[in-house]
Amino acid sequence: MRFEGKTVLITGGATGIGRATALAFAREGASVAIGDTSDLAAETVRMIERDGGRALFQPTDVASYEQVESLVRSAVTRFGGLHAAFNNAGILPATRPLHEVRPSDFDRVIAVNLRGIFNALHAEIAHMLGHGGGAIVNTASVAGVVADPGMSPYVASKHAVVGLTKAAAIEYGRRGIRINAIAPGLVRTPMTERWLADAAFRQSFFAEGPFAPSPLGRAAEPEEIAGTVLHLCSDAATFTIGQIAVVDGGQTVR
Ligand SMILES: NC(=O)c1ccc[n+]([C@@H]2O[C@H](COP(=O)([O-])OP(=O)(O)OC[C@H]3O[C@@H](n4cnc5c(N)ncnc54)[C@H](O)[C@@H]3O)[C@@H](O)[C@H]2O)c1
Repeated sequence: MRFEGKTVLITGGATGIGRATALAFAREGASVAIGDTSDLAAETVRMIERDGGRALFQPTDVASYEQVESLVRSAVTRFGGLHAAFNNAGILPATRPLHEVRPSDFDRVIAVNLRGIFNALHAEIAHMLGHGGGAIVNTASVAGVVADPGMSPYVASKHAVVGLTKAAAIEYGRRGIRINAIAPGLVRTPMTERWLADAAFRQSFFAEGPFAPSPLGRAAEPEEIAGTVLHLCSDAATFTIGQIAVVDGGQTVR
């Protein structure tokens, strides 16, 4: 029960990594405030409450500063504080060469994946500064560390999340707010289900051999990412700031 009496805010907690992390925080005693554009977040809340935990869902588009700020206020009002945050909402557009990406699609990826994290950091830090600090984890990606073809808006947004995480971490470390990021590899979630359903993709991604992309030969389950998020938010990580925890089954090791 590492998070007994604590409140954690999670964006993108309706499905996938965000939901698994919300459930994991709740199991360890945290009250969980979820912001998401999808009503499936209400189901995450029901799952937590069924197990005796406390959670709220507030419809939130992370691209809107006002909506994110309101979510922070709701978390504090309902649960009496904000001690940790997992800024995780993100979108993955269709794979396309850069010259075929619609400029408006590029803008939306940046608005959600990058500005969304800026919005959340801004509102969370503003609260935490006056209330004893806290711990924040942003969701980057292996696409924030290396590039993949056909994914230029997503790669750009996630590389920027890495930079934003480092910049914020060194600004606020001395003021009691620890900021880190996770960089998951391939995780089995709604975001990747179309890839994982494709036999040709599976065959090439999970192939064995010296040049195979996935040393472990499988996708992660969302729970395998949640464990690292909880660790980074816990008192076991009090000297860890500005780190990009790559959780990718070895995908970027070579
Ligand atoms: N699945 C992977 O392989 C993988 C790998 C690396 C990084 N990631 C990142 O992990 C994060 C979670 O993705 P996931 O794989 O769990 O996919 P997912 O689609 O299950 O989850 C994304 C969540 O974000 C929410 N969301 C989307 N746009 C939003 C917005 N504007 N405002 C608020 N919420 C919004 C969705 O409704 C959903 O609940 C994303 O940032 C994604 O880029 C995923």
